[in-house]
Amino acid sequence: MTTPDAVVRTRLLHPLPVRIMHWINALAMIVMITSGWGIYDDYVVISRLHFSQVLRLGDGAQDSLLWHFAGMWFLAINGLAYLLYGLFTGRFRERLFPIKGADLVRTVNDTLHFRIAHEDIKQYNAVQKVLYIVVILAGISQVTTGLAIWKPIQFSGLVSLFGGFQDARLVHFWGMAVIVGFLAVHVALSLLVPSTLWAMLAGGPRIPRPTRVRRNRVET
Ligand code: HEM
Repeated sequence: MTTPDAVVRTRLLHPLPVRIMHWINALAMIVMITSGWGIYDDYVVISRLHFSQVLRLGDGAQDSLLWHFAGMWFLAINGLAYLLYGLFTGRFRERLFPIKGADLVRTVNDTLHFRIAHEDIKQYNAVQKVLYIVVILAGISQVTTGLAIWKPIQFSGLVSLFGGFQDARLVHFWGMAVIVGFLAVHVALSLLVPSTLWAMLAGGPRIPRPTRVRRNRVET
């Protein structure tokens, strides 16, 4: 006779590859945003909007462009690795889904009333899940619009997908704005709940991970 025997093992909340990819991504994003602000004056999107010199990475637009191209490789390769890891290990399915409408409403309501206690750092709340999904999609959009405006001839298919060169530039700009908005909230929340920040540095608590079901032969 055979009986199913669930073998439950544990793992860290944020395994090492996730932490490494998260912090490379954070650094690459900051390089991309600040060097992007250095290039921005070359083609202003909002006429009165300019970024202060102290916020720009690079000594002049040409130098900022070099930083932007260097950061791009880290962002694109590391981002692709994170996407593949999230999809193939089931991390995205496990951590970011499901998102229940009622949880979303309750968390937004709590946040608006400054009740942002994050008792169980092992679970993302519904708002976090939505924000992480939005920022992951924004990251993908930044890399693809970036490719489109960098090499519009070679990536003409991408340019048409975004509705033309100017529209790809606009999507690239607004994608940056979404990521900067996300970062402001994300960094503020991680400082308000430092245990989450420590977990993203050191791995956090161990959580159970049902790995596989083994069928053991039981002697009768
Ligand atoms: C630079 C400052 C940053 C800090 C201090 C920071 C901090 C953190 C912390 C503490 C968590 C875990 C949250 C929790 O367990 O409740 C986290 C997760 C996450 N962060 Fe950041 N982060 C930063 C930058 C970024 C950037 C630039 C992005 C993307 C544009 C990003 C995207 C994410 C995502 C997608 C997760 C979920 C990761 C997963 O579980 O797979 N973070 N971050």
